[in-house]
Amino acid sequence: MNLESQKLMRAFPNFKALIEGSHVTGGDPQGLLEYWIQNRQPICDAIEKPGTFLDIGCANGFLLACLQLWSAHQITPYGVDIDAGSLAMARDLLPEYASHFAQLSLGALPTRANLGLPTGFDYVYWNVWDGLDFDEPLCQTYAENAFAAARGGGRLILGFYDTDHGAVRRQLEWLVGRFGAYSKRLKLDTEFAWWDCEPRE
Ligand SMILES: C[S@@+](CC[C@H](N)C(=O)[O-])C[C@H]1O[C@@H](n2cnc3c(N)ncnc32)[C@H](O)[C@@H]1O
Repeated sequence: MNLESQKLMRAFPNFKALIEGSHVTGGDPQGLLEYWIQNRQPICDAIEKPGTFLDIGCANGFLLACLQLWSAHQITPYGVDIDAGSLAMARDLLPEYASHFAQLSLGALPTRANLGLPTGFDYVYWNVWDGLDFDEPLCQTYAENAFAAARGGGRLILGFYDTDHGAVRRQLEWLVGRFGAYSKRLKLDTEFAWWDCEPRE
């Protein structure tokens, strides 16, 4: 077992349930843990200074908790999700930040200030949901809302978990056509790309 796995197991003895609560399943506990680390830890490459971090579709908050553990920089976690049960788990996992979680769809993200969330973030993370087609107006709204949350000098980080790499390439082509070239792309088993958003005028 490698050091990263040991570190995570020590910090979260119930890691299997936590990973499953983030909608990742399958394999034996050790394999699941290694898969989780391999496919989430690269997000830390995009975190180059301390700051606020919004996870859009945060589920049970385990990704945020892991990023706090992994990153060399202090992140202040925030999360939105449509699922109330997952949000309750996120508040249990990160009780210090319970007020930073809100039940909100990405489609309604511009209303976040009504729920006490900041208008801008240093980092916004969105795992572009599998099968999402940016030719559809709702999906375009999702992308616009995610980018808008990082405007004002923040960084929008996108993760693509879809194993259909052709679909991911098409999503990235649309995003680059609409928002311009990404600042960096990590072409791993799971792809990540991020955009540094211009400060608000
Ligand atoms: C695969 S989990 C991602 C968990 C974590 N962010 C990660 O990257 O590992 C996707 C989450 O997105 C949430 N979700 C789905 N549609 C959403 C929407 N329209 N707005 C906000 N969250 C949504 C789901 O409830 C689920 O918890």
